[in-house]
Amino acid sequence: MSARPVQVLVYRPDDPRPFASLIRARPSVTLHVTSSPDEAALLAPELDVIFGWKVPPALYEKAARLAWFQVMGAGVDWVLVPTLPRRVVVTRVPGVFGPWMAEYVLTWCGFVVQRIDAYRAAQREGRWLETLLPARLGGTTLTVVGLGDIGRTIARAARAAGMRVIGVSRSGAAVSGIERIYRGRDLRRAIAVADWVVLTVPLTPATRGLIGPEELAAMKPTAWLLNIARGAVVDEAALLDMLRRRAIGGAVLDVFGTEPLPPDHPFWTLDNVVVTPHIAGPDVPEEIVPVFNDNLARFVAGRPLRHVVDRRRGY
Ligand code: OXD
Repeated sequence: MSARPVQVLVYRPDDPRPFASLIRARPSVTLHVTSSPDEAALLAPELDVIFGWKVPPALYEKAARLAWFQVMGAGVDWVLVPTLPRRVVVTRVPGVFGPWMAEYVLTWCGFVVQRIDAYRAAQREGRWLETLLPARLGGTTLTVVGLGDIGRTIARAARAAGMRVIGVSRSGAAVSGIERIYRGRDLRRAIAVADWVVLTVPLTPATRGLIGPEELAAMKPTAWLLNIARGAVVDEAALLDMLRRRAIGGAVLDVFGTEPLPPDHPFWTLDNVVVTPHIAGPDVPEEIVPVFNDNLARFVAGRPLRHVVDRRRGY
């Protein structure tokens, strides 16, 4: 009697097909590909594996056989909801998003110091703006809050650009290239020395609201906050207040408490805010599917999966 094929759901609300088309076919695996929550719910009782992004959590209760969830994106907070049974192993995609996010961070820091807004505005008016000079990125201090693989990749890139890099991590353990690492309890001290504060922590109960009024008040009046983690890591009302009062230099925000950012949100119109639509670390099928293919081969062979999320820690 032949064994039942492993039932895999490839799901994302946009288009899962570019991901599914790169999955290495095997006779022992049946792929179901959909962006429809209703279709996914119908399939749920048979599923062994989900390879997905923004899967409706209501599906977990129906997925009695589900053993493994491979996340397509950088964060796993939306997967680790209480209805996800403890037996389900969740795996991440490390090593993929860091280079994108490092380029995002350096580009937007460059945007600030090169005064791109001002020169472009002057160009539109045919105005020779020689009274305004750019500043150097080299020699400025960048504090990375969260030293997972993304934070470390950003730290390396910033260092290569001549910046001084400070880090904040739970353990405070040394990381090469980072001048000084503070533990979480010394977050404000790490923030106070920064010209750029970059948030790369996962969203967990410990990091929700991590950057509140006191942390924001610790920033230099010229410093910029770059949030590429999750909107809920920052107290957005407190940030808005700081920005309106020009108590900090500005903010580059890729993530928000509510996404898409509502059209009437004040962040859209402040001249010291850059809003990007959660694109700092795009999901590129060619980068993500090889990680899934490797783990799928392991799953089929009954071998341990790689990049397993510690559900207790939440990352
Ligand atoms: C994320 C992503 O997890 O965009 O935010 O991948």
